[in-house]
Amino acid sequence: MSRIAYVNGQYIPHANAGVHIEDRGYQFADGVYEVCEVARGNIMDMTRHLNRLDRSLSELRIGWPMNRKALQSVIAEVVRRNRVFNGMVYLQVTRGVAKRDHVFPSADTPPSIVITAKRTDPVMFAARAAKGVKVITVPENRWERVDIKSIGLLPNVMARQQAKEQGAQEAWFIDPDGTVREGAATNAWIVTMDGVLVTRQAETGILRGITRTTIFDVAKKLGLTIEERGFSVEEAKRAREVFMTAATTVVMPIVAIDGESVANGHPGTIALSLREAFFDIAEKTPSC
Ligand code: PDD
Repeated sequence: MSRIAYVNGQYIPHANAGVHIEDRGYQFADGVYEVCEVARGNIMDMTRHLNRLDRSLSELRIGWPMNRKALQSVIAEVVRRNRVFNGMVYLQVTRGVAKRDHVFPSADTPPSIVITAKRTDPVMFAARAAKGVKVITVPENRWERVDIKSIGLLPNVMARQQAKEQGAQEAWFIDPDGTVREGAATNAWIVTMDGVLVTRQAETGILRGITRTTIFDVAKKLGLTIEERGFSVEEAKRAREVFMTAATTVVMPIVAIDGESVANGHPGTIALSLREAFFDIAEKTPSC
Protein backbone atom coordinates (compact mmCIF):
# COMPACT_ATOMS: atom_id res chain seq x y z
CA MET A 1 0.00 0.00 0.00
CA SER A 2 1.45 3.39 -0.93
CA ARG A 3 1.66 6.12 1.68
CA ILE A 4 -0.25 9.37 1.35
CA ALA A 5 0.87 12.78 2.62
CA TYR A 6 -1.18 15.92 3.11
CA VAL A 7 0.60 18.98 1.72
CA ASN A 8 -1.04 22.41 1.65
CA GLY A 9 -4.58 21.28 0.90
CA GLN A 10 -3.88 18.13 -1.10
CA TYR A 11 -3.54 14.43 -0.37
CA ILE A 12 -0.70 13.19 -2.53
CA PRO A 13 1.45 10.06 -2.82
CA HIS A 14 4.15 10.28 -0.17
CA ALA A 15 6.86 9.46 -2.70
CA ASN A 16 6.04 12.58 -4.75
CA ALA A 17 5.22 14.92 -1.88
CA GLY A 18 7.29 18.06 -1.58
CA VAL A 19 7.33 21.72 -0.64
CA HIS A 20 8.73 24.70 -2.49
CA ILE A 21 12.50 25.28 -2.22
CA GLU A 22 11.83 28.66 -0.63
CA ASP A 23 9.64 27.28 2.13
CA ARG A 24 10.87 29.00 5.29
CA GLY A 25 10.91 25.68 7.09
CA TYR A 26 13.45 24.44 4.58
CA GLN A 27 15.58 27.59 4.63
CA PHE A 28 15.33 28.83 8.23
CA ALA A 29 13.72 26.00 10.27
CA ASP A 30 11.04 28.67 10.65
CA GLY A 31 8.24 26.41 11.80
CA VAL A 32 6.81 24.14 14.44
CA TYR A 33 5.67 20.54 14.64
CA GLU A 34 3.75 17.95 16.60
CA VAL A 35 3.98 14.17 16.78
CA CYS A 36 0.95 12.23 18.03
CA GLU A 37 0.88 8.57 18.83
CA VAL A 38 -1.71 6.40 17.12
CA ALA A 39 -2.60 3.42 19.28
CA ARG A 40 -5.18 0.77 18.39
CA GLY A 41 -6.73 3.10 15.83
CA ASN A 42 -6.92 6.09 18.18
CA ILE A 43 -5.06 9.36 17.95
CA MET A 44 -3.79 9.89 21.48
CA ASP A 45 -4.08 13.17 23.37
CA MET A 46 -5.12 15.16 20.28
CA THR A 47 -6.54 18.06 22.35
CA ARG A 48 -3.31 18.56 24.27
CA HIS A 49 -1.18 18.27 21.13
CA LEU A 50 -3.29 20.90 19.34
CA ASN A 51 -3.19 23.16 22.40
CA ARG A 52 0.60 22.96 22.37
CA LEU A 53 0.64 23.57 18.61
CA ASP A 54 -1.42 26.69 19.25
CA ARG A 55 1.08 27.88 21.85
CA SER A 56 4.11 27.17 19.63
CA LEU A 57 2.50 29.00 16.70
CA SER A 58 1.57 32.02 18.77
CA GLU A 59 5.03 32.25 20.41
CA LEU A 60 6.54 32.43 16.91
CA ARG A 61 3.71 34.57 15.48
CA ILE A 62 2.81 32.03 12.80
CA GLY A 63 -0.88 31.73 11.88
CA TRP A 64 -2.96 28.58 11.93
CA PRO A 65 -2.95 26.98 8.47
CA MET A 66 -6.68 26.16 8.82
CA ASN A 67 -9.14 26.16 11.66
CA ARG A 68 -8.70 23.71 14.48
CA LYS A 69 -11.71 21.55 13.61
CA ALA A 70 -10.58 21.21 9.99
CA LEU A 71 -7.07 20.33 11.13
CA GLN A 72 -8.45 17.63 13.40
CA SER A 73 -10.33 16.07 10.48
CA VAL A 74 -7.30 16.21 8.18
CA ILE A 75 -5.11 14.53 10.81
CA ALA A 76 -7.67 11.73 11.17
CA GLU A 77 -7.99 11.46 7.39
CA VAL A 78 -4.20 11.10 6.95
CA VAL A 79 -4.19 8.33 9.57
CA ARG A 80 -7.11 6.65 7.80
CA ARG A 81 -5.70 6.93 4.29
CA ASN A 82 -2.42 5.40 5.45
CA ARG A 83 -4.29 2.65 7.32
CA VAL A 84 -2.29 3.31 10.44
CA PHE A 85 -3.63 1.31 13.38
CA ASN A 86 -0.50 1.71 15.49
CA GLY A 87 2.03 4.40 14.63
CA MET A 88 2.64 8.11 14.50
CA VAL A 89 1.15 11.13 12.85
CA TYR A 90 3.53 14.02 12.18
CA LEU A 91 2.43 17.54 11.41
CA GLN A 92 4.52 20.55 10.58
CA VAL A 93 3.52 24.16 10.05
CA THR A 94 5.96 26.72 8.69
CA ARG A 95 5.80 30.45 8.03
CA GLY A 96 5.22 29.66 4.36
CA VAL A 97 6.96 30.26 1.07
CA ALA A 98 8.63 33.59 0.34
CA LYS A 99 11.76 35.04 -1.26
CA ARG A 100 14.62 34.37 1.17
CA ASP A 101 14.79 37.14 3.76
CA HIS A 102 15.27 36.78 7.50
CA VAL A 103 12.42 39.13 8.34
CA PHE A 104 8.87 37.81 8.22
CA PRO A 105 7.21 37.69 4.80
CA SER A 106 4.12 39.82 4.18
CA ALA A 107 1.16 39.09 6.42
CA ASP A 108 -0.84 37.51 3.59
CA THR A 109 1.73 34.70 3.10
CA PRO A 110 -0.12 31.49 3.98
CA PRO A 111 1.59 29.13 6.43
CA SER A 112 2.60 25.79 4.91
CA ILE A 113 1.33 22.56 6.36
CA VAL A 114 2.50 18.99 5.91
CA ILE A 115 0.99 15.96 7.62
CA THR A 116 2.31 12.42 7.35
CA ALA A 117 1.57 9.18 9.14
CA LYS A 118 3.57 6.01 9.53
CA ARG A 119 3.06 2.62 11.09
CA THR A 120 5.15 1.34 13.97
CA ASP A 121 5.34 -2.10 15.48
CA PRO A 122 3.86 -2.19 19.01
CA VAL A 123 5.45 -5.61 19.59
CA MET A 124 8.90 -4.15 18.93
CA PHE A 125 8.22 -1.24 21.32
CA ALA A 126 6.91 -3.59 24.02
CA ALA A 127 10.03 -5.73 23.64
CA ARG A 128 12.21 -2.65 23.95
CA ALA A 129 10.34 -1.56 27.09
CA ALA A 130 10.75 -5.03 28.58
CA LYS A 131 14.50 -4.74 28.12
CA GLY A 132 15.00 -1.04 28.80
CA VAL A 133 17.14 1.45 26.88
CA LYS A 134 20.46 3.19 27.39
CA VAL A 135 21.13 6.93 27.49
CA ILE A 136 24.27 9.02 27.26
CA THR A 137 24.72 12.56 28.57
CA VAL A 138 25.75 15.57 26.50
CA PRO A 139 26.20 19.24 27.45
CA GLU A 140 23.10 21.41 26.91
CA ASN A 141 23.79 23.46 23.80
CA ARG A 142 20.32 24.46 22.57
CA TRP A 143 18.67 27.88 22.40
CA GLU A 144 16.67 29.09 25.38
CA ARG A 145 13.22 28.62 23.86
CA VAL A 146 13.14 24.83 23.90
CA ASP A 147 9.62 25.16 25.35
CA ILE A 148 8.55 25.88 21.74
CA LYS A 149 8.22 22.75 19.61
CA SER A 150 10.27 24.22 16.79
CA ILE A 151 11.55 22.24 13.82
CA GLY A 152 15.04 23.67 14.50
CA LEU A 153 16.44 20.46 15.95
CA LEU A 154 20.10 20.36 14.95
CA PRO A 155 21.50 19.94 18.50
CA ASN A 156 18.93 17.17 19.08
CA VAL A 157 19.94 15.46 15.84
CA MET A 158 23.63 15.61 16.75
CA ALA A 159 22.94 14.31 20.28
CA ARG A 160 20.81 11.39 19.07
CA GLN A 161 23.43 10.44 16.51
CA GLN A 162 26.11 10.50 19.19
CA ALA A 163 23.91 8.26 21.35
CA LYS A 164 23.52 5.80 18.50
CA GLU A 165 27.24 5.75 17.82
CA GLN A 166 27.81 4.95 21.51
CA GLY A 167 25.31 2.09 21.51
CA ALA A 168 22.56 4.07 23.31
CA GLN A 169 19.05 5.05 22.28
CA GLU A 170 18.78 8.55 23.77
CA ALA A 171 20.98 11.48 24.83
CA TRP A 172 20.18 13.65 27.84
CA PHE A 173 21.07 17.34 27.73
CA ILE A 174 22.83 18.35 30.95
CA ASP A 175 23.18 21.83 32.46
CA PRO A 176 26.67 23.02 33.54
CA ASP A 177 25.71 22.30 37.20
CA GLY A 178 24.96 18.64 36.38
CA THR A 179 21.15 18.96 36.29
CA VAL A 180 19.34 16.87 33.71
CA ARG A 181 17.23 18.88 31.26
CA GLU A 182 15.58 16.32 28.98
CA GLY A 183 16.38 13.93 26.18
CA ALA A 184 16.93 14.82 22.53
CA ALA A 185 13.28 13.86 21.88
CA THR A 186 11.97 12.72 25.28
CA ASN A 187 11.37 14.01 28.83
CA ALA A 188 13.45 12.55 31.65
CA TRP A 189 12.17 11.01 34.90
CA ILE A 190 13.44 9.16 37.93
CA VAL A 191 11.74 7.30 40.77
CA THR A 192 13.30 7.86 44.18
CA MET A 193 13.90 5.06 46.70
CA ASP A 194 10.64 6.19 48.37
CA GLY A 195 8.70 5.64 45.15
CA VAL A 196 8.25 9.35 44.32
CA LEU A 197 8.30 10.29 40.64
CA VAL A 198 10.61 13.20 39.84
CA THR A 199 10.68 15.23 36.64
CA ARG A 200 12.04 18.66 35.95
CA GLN A 201 9.61 21.58 36.15
CA ALA A 202 8.46 22.56 32.66
CA GLU A 203 8.27 26.35 32.94
CA THR A 204 11.58 26.84 31.14
CA GLY A 205 14.45 24.71 29.91
CA ILE A 206 12.47 21.77 28.55
CA LEU A 207 9.58 21.00 26.27
CA ARG A 208 6.37 20.42 28.21
CA GLY A 209 5.81 16.92 26.83
CA ILE A 210 2.24 15.85 26.27
CA THR A 211 3.07 12.35 27.47
CA ARG A 212 4.67 13.96 30.54
CA THR A 213 1.44 15.88 31.21
CA THR A 214 -0.73 12.79 30.79
CA ILE A 215 1.58 10.82 33.09
CA PHE A 216 0.53 13.29 35.81
CA ASP A 217 -3.05 12.02 35.30
CA VAL A 218 -1.89 8.41 35.22
CA ALA A 219 0.18 8.82 38.41
CA LYS A 220 -2.81 10.34 40.17
CA LYS A 221 -4.97 7.37 39.20
CA LEU A 222 -2.30 4.97 40.45
CA GLY A 223 -1.89 6.92 43.71
CA LEU A 224 1.70 7.95 42.94
CA THR A 225 3.29 11.24 43.99
CA ILE A 226 5.14 13.47 41.54
CA GLU A 227 7.73 16.07 42.50
CA GLU A 228 8.52 18.64 39.82
CA ARG A 229 12.16 19.56 40.34
CA GLY A 230 15.52 19.21 38.74
CA PHE A 231 17.64 16.14 39.43
CA SER A 232 21.31 15.52 38.75
CA VAL A 233 22.91 12.76 36.73
CA GLU A 234 24.34 11.46 40.03
CA GLU A 235 20.88 11.28 41.59
CA ALA A 236 19.59 9.46 38.50
CA LYS A 237 22.40 6.92 38.80
CA ARG A 238 21.32 6.16 42.38
CA ALA A 239 17.56 6.20 41.66
CA ARG A 240 15.24 3.25 42.06
CA GLU A 241 14.03 3.66 38.49
CA VAL A 242 14.82 5.86 35.52
CA PHE A 243 12.62 6.36 32.48
CA MET A 244 11.74 8.68 29.63
CA THR A 245 8.47 9.74 28.04
CA ALA A 246 7.40 10.86 24.56
CA ALA A 247 4.60 10.27 22.09
CA THR A 248 6.96 7.99 20.17
CA THR A 249 7.94 5.78 23.11
CA VAL A 250 5.18 6.44 25.71
CA VAL A 251 7.01 5.37 28.91
CA MET A 252 10.38 3.77 28.23
CA PRO A 253 12.51 2.41 31.09
CA ILE A 254 16.20 3.40 31.13
CA VAL A 255 18.72 0.84 32.36
CA ALA A 256 22.07 2.55 31.72
CA ILE A 257 23.47 6.08 31.83
CA ASP A 258 26.84 6.72 30.16
CA GLY A 259 27.54 3.00 30.13
CA GLU A 260 26.84 2.58 33.86
CA SER A 261 24.03 0.27 34.81
CA VAL A 262 21.17 2.03 36.70
CA ALA A 263 18.12 0.75 38.58
CA ASN A 264 19.83 -2.67 38.88
CA GLY A 265 19.95 -2.82 35.10
CA HIS A 266 16.27 -3.78 34.85
CA PRO A 267 13.14 -1.88 33.77
CA GLY A 268 11.34 -0.68 36.88
CA THR A 269 7.89 -1.88 37.90
CA ILE A 270 6.55 1.67 38.36
CA ALA A 271 7.63 2.70 34.86
CA LEU A 272 6.05 -0.42 33.42
CA SER A 273 2.79 0.14 35.30
CA LEU A 274 2.63 3.75 34.06
CA ARG A 275 3.21 2.45 30.56
CA GLU A 276 0.45 -0.09 30.96
CA ALA A 277 -2.10 2.41 32.36
CA PHE A 278 -1.30 5.16 29.86
CA PHE A 279 -3.57 3.90 27.10
CA ASP A 280 -6.63 3.71 29.37
CA ILE A 281 -6.20 7.21 30.77
CA ALA A 282 -5.01 9.27 27.78
CA GLU A 283 -7.60 10.96 25.57
CA LYS A 284 -8.44 8.82 22.52
CA THR A 285 -9.81 10.18 19.25
CA PRO A 286 -10.88 7.38 16.92
CA SER A 287 -9.38 7.84 13.45
CA CYS A 288 -12.41 6.30 11.76
N1 PDD B 1 9.63 14.69 20.52
N2 PDD B 1 11.38 16.82 24.75
C1 PDD B 1 11.75 16.97 23.47
C2 PDD B 1 12.97 17.79 23.16
C3 PDD B 1 10.99 16.38 22.44
O1 PDD B 1 11.36 16.55 21.17
C4 PDD B 1 9.86 15.59 22.77
C5 PDD B 1 9.00 14.94 21.73
C6 PDD B 1 9.52 15.46 24.13
C7 PDD B 1 8.31 14.67 24.57
O2 PDD B 1 7.12 15.33 24.20
P1 PDD B 1 5.77 14.53 23.90
O3 PDD B 1 5.47 13.72 25.11
O4 PDD B 1 4.77 15.58 23.65
O5 PDD B 1 6.03 13.64 22.71
C8 PDD B 1 10.29 16.09 25.09
C9 PDD B 1 8.89 14.11 19.40
C10 PDD B 1 8.20 12.86 19.72
C11 PDD B 1 9.84 14.01 18.23
O6 PDD B 1 10.59 14.96 18.04
O7 PDD B 1 9.80 13.04 17.49
